Amino acid sequence: MTHMALEVKESLEERCNRILRNMEASLTTRDRVGIQDFVLLDNYTSETAFLDNLRKRFHENLVYTYIGTLLVSVNPYKELDIYSKNQMDTYMGVNFFELPPHIYALADNVFRTMLSEFNDHFILISGESGAGKTEASKKILHFYAVSCPSTKVLNNVRDRLLVSNPVLEAFGNAKTLKNDNSSRFGKYMDIQFDHQGGAVGGHILSYLLEKSRVVHQNHGERNFHIFYQLVEGGEENLLRWLGLERNCQNYSYLVQGNCAKVSSINDKSDWKTVGRALSVIGFSESDTEHLFGIIASVLHLGNVNFEADARGYASLNNNLEMHWVSKLLGIPTQVLQQGLTHRKIEAKKEEVFSPLTVDHAVYARDALAKAIYGRTFNWLVNKINESLANMDSSRKTVIGLLDIYGFEVFNVNSFEQFCINYCNEKLQQLFIQLTLKSEQEEYEMEGIEWEPVPYFNNKIICDLVEEKHRGIISLLDEECLRPGEATDLTLLDKMEEKIGGHPHFVTHKLADQKTRKTLERGDFRLLHYAGEVTYCVVGFLDKNNDLLYRNGKEVMQQSKNAIIKHCFPPTEPDRKKRPETVVTQFKSSLVGLTEILMTKEPWYIRCIKPNEAKQPGCFDDVLVRHQVKYLGLMEHLRVRRAGFAYRRKYEIFLQRYKALCPDTWPNWKGTAAEGVRCLIKHLDYKPDEYKMGRTKIFIRHPRTLFATEDAFQVCKNQLATRIQAKYKGYRVKGDYQKQKEAATKIENCFRGMMARKEREKREWAVRIIKRFIKGFMTRNEPASVDNREYLAYVRQNYLTRLKENLPKTVLEKDSWPTPPPVLREASQLLKKLYIRHMIRKYVHGMTKERKAQLQLKVQTSSMFKDKKENYPISVCRPFLDTRIGVEDISMKVMQVIRHEHVKYGVSVVKYDRNGFRPRPRQLVLTQEAVYLVEEAKIKQRIHYSSLKGVSVSNLSDNFLILHVTCDDIKQKGDLVLQCDFLFEALTRLSVLTSKQNLIQVVQGSVRFDIQPGREGFVDFRSGHESVVYRAKNGHLTVESTRTKSR
Ligand SMILES: Nc1ncnc2c1ncn2[C@@H]1O[C@H](COP(=O)(O)OP(=O)(O)OP(=O)(O)O)[C@@H](O)[C@H]1O
Ligand SMILES: [Mg+2]
Repeated sequence: MTHMALEVKESLEERCNRILRNMEASLTTRDRVGIQDFVLLDNYTSETAFLDNLRKRFHENLVYTYIGTLLVSVNPYKELDIYSKNQMDTYMGVNFFELPPHIYALADNVFRTMLSEFNDHFILISGESGAGKTEASKKILHFYAVSCPSTKVLNNVRDRLLVSNPVLEAFGNAKTLKNDNSSRFGKYMDIQFDHQGGAVGGHILSYLLEKSRVVHQNHGERNFHIFYQLVEGGEENLLRWLGLERNCQNYSYLVQGNCAKVSSINDKSDWKTVGRALSVIGFSESDTEHLFGIIASVLHLGNVNFEADARGYASLNNNLEMHWVSKLLGIPTQVLQQGLTHRKIEAKKEEVFSPLTVDHAVYARDALAKAIYGRTFNWLVNKINESLANMDSSRKTVIGLLDIYGFEVFNVNSFEQFCINYCNEKLQQLFIQLTLKSEQEEYEMEGIEWEPVPYFNNKIICDLVEEKHRGIISLLDEECLRPGEATDLTLLDKMEEKIGGHPHFVTHKLADQKTRKTLERGDFRLLHYAGEVTYCVVGFLDKNNDLLYRNGKEVMQQSKNAIIKHCFPPTEPDRKKRPETVVTQFKSSLVGLTEILMTKEPWYIRCIKPNEAKQPGCFDDVLVRHQVKYLGLMEHLRVRRAGFAYRRKYEIFLQRYKALCPDTWPNWKGTAAEGVRCLIKHLDYKPDEYKMGRTKIFIRHPRTLFATEDAFQVCKNQLATRIQAKYKGYRVKGDYQKQKEAATKIENCFRGMMARKEREKREWAVRIIKRFIKGFMTRNEPASVDNREYLAYVRQNYLTRLKENLPKTVLEKDSWPTPPPVLREASQLLKKLYIRHMIRKYVHGMTKERKAQLQLKVQTSSMFKDKKENYPISVCRPFLDTRIGVEDISMKVMQVIRHEHVKYGVSVVKYDRNGFRPRPRQLVLTQEAVYLVEEAKIKQRIHYSSLKGVSVSNLSDNFLILHVTCDDIKQKGDLVLQCDFLFEALTRLSVLTSKQNLIQVVQGSVRFDIQPGREGFVDFRSGHESVVYRAKNGHLTVESTRTKSR
């Protein structure tokens, strides 16, 4: 994914998480384990402090540490979970110092600088064997493969770049004692990018392949992987075609180290990988055939043995191996045999073949094998380059990866170490030039005065090695080329003679006594920038010559194998001129490399091997200290720290620390430089602690930065809490807003629904009311559609009302609800029915006694109602059967009247006819007569037949006058009585007499007969009080109060 795409694809939340993760990561890493950047080490000259930091971090699996922009990497010897796609994403597009040190940070920074500045860069990866250089370069390549833009074409290039590694490793790497996958050549790989950052091509340069390995391996080491891969993994057909057997033990070139099998290496599967890689790179079938033909021919060649003939010269006895070599290389056997056993000497324009001794023949054979392999390797590199080449002529920018051998010091150091260490001197020189140059340039650019930096410049050693005519290389070449008996020891003499006084060169002979003890006679010692190395001069001339007898080359030129043909072109050497020596070739390739690198921006990765045992978690102080020294890390640090420990662009510095000053937080309005000035004023930086450049701030001591950083960490936590709180608030507010919106929406919907319901209800109501009104208006018309409903409603309504308001008693019959016109008839019928029902109910509910009582009351009513004033009062007083019991009537009287059946008795007051004196009496009614009884004496008996009538007044008095027929003077006349139970007594009397109109209600006066012919009067009048008296006119006057009408 591209950086751009990443930005687009990454959601805000993911970005926040990533930044948080980063913040936390950098915080914990810095807090927990040492210092991420050695430049900030206060005690920067102390190797021990340096080592302590490295060790501390290593034990926390933090294998990367910076020295400025240089990355120190310690081989963890175990898989760390820090190379995932996620990690790559994390490091993409993030500022170098914002995350814990990582190789991805460096790779990303190089990439982005290249894109933004549109210039070339290289990453120099150095370190001793097994320190992790090749792994580092692969990690970088992978990072670019994942992070660069991808298209179909670009993916093609990317795949080729990636698979070039296993191929080169198969042919150029081998198991050594130090590393199971040791690169036996130096490698510089250019990756070319277009202006959008797409990897569009590549180019590889290889340096000084260790060809000697083809013919000889030390104990515990192997030949190049490809031989074992072919023998172990090659398909049966292929092996048959190559004349090989599947057994490494059969090939003398494979077994000298006695370790053809290595547990950490799977030759079979590596073979498959290489096969696939070759096809991706674009090898044709014939290319692969030829290539493996060569590999097999080297194996066969190794098995070619010589025997001494009678004269002591080498003769060939193994025709089978020769046959295969000849077949595979396409060279006639005869030619081959001749080439291996004879040497061509040119003497006076004549060519003479001189036979070789067995030793020389073996030497020639091995030289041939090395030459074949070495040139094939170069061919392979070229072939890969063809496949990676970008034909497009538009300008590219380049990132170079230099995976080169680091400084090497063994117990015995030989020509190879000399070359390698020379290479490192050159690279150190380059580093010094580039770093100091850039440092100086930066100071100039920033307008800061350049202060001379004390550091060791290794130019003097470079000169010692490479100076024309005087340098060791010149002397070596001279010695190789001069006629006469030159040996390694004569070389030593020469060096002592020519460069004896050089301060960085010492030999046994030149040394003082103390030093001499540490040197052998054949040794010379160079005081390299990284330390002393003692070289044993033995083998220098031979290795430098690397002579392939001339006819060996000529034999090869006859080959039919396309690759060999290509590698040994007929036009090759000027026959007379000797080929360039190894060291001179190496020197010129290094000069070439230096030229390449000088035009590019340098970046460095220094790899360190923590222990010799390839063990995880084991940090060998002595070993690491050794490497720290030999990698020139302290040197590097010193140069970096010579001026200011820390510098950063104003924008970046301000961006990181602006939270520390209220004026710059959260946003600074002015320029970044002013912001920084304000910030550091607030932080109270002392004037000698910093300098303000044009675009950067320079801080002299790390402690100043630490104090700032510590303050920032504290502040960051506080800020984080605040931001968190704000964010939470923001989230909650968002949720609340959403809920509110939702609530409003629901409310609106609900209201809408209710309003619609209400409207429907109203519409319905309007319809109903209209129908009601229409019904009402037409209620009196005959039933129709318009009023049917209304009338039904009216009926129902009336009936319901009626049901609730029915009269409770018969007497309430007038309370019958008034019916609507339409129900008038029905109402009448109902009323009738109901009244009858009530009457029926009433009647059925009545006792006999009550009935009799009521019948009496009816009679009373018919006699007195509306006639006598006090009648209404009597209505509610129930009548009794009698007011005087039989037992209250004197026995004597009873004896007289018993037979007549006493029906009723009541106490009365009798007023004398003369004088109107009141006398208490009993009035007893029998079946036949009325008796006035005084105690035991019947005072008067009036037979009903002789009772003419009874007069009562219309007023409220209780007087009654019984009028009797009085024929006889002796007979007593009419009776004037007063009775409290007047109506009861009279009703009884009326019933007993069965006479209609017996009782007369009169007004004013009643005339009565005192005795026949003599009359008396009773005057009734109303008064204020009830009184009875005899008036002056001799009348009985009865005054009664007016009763209030009911
Ligand atoms: N970053 C790493 N993570 C895990 N293992 C590693 C890492 N780097 C190196 N190694 C282990 O160390 C071994 C040696 O590493 P590598 O081959 O890169 O060393 P080198 O520096 O290239 O050595 P040489 O100079 O011999 O080529 C690897 O095969 C691997 O097992
Ligand atoms: Mg390597």
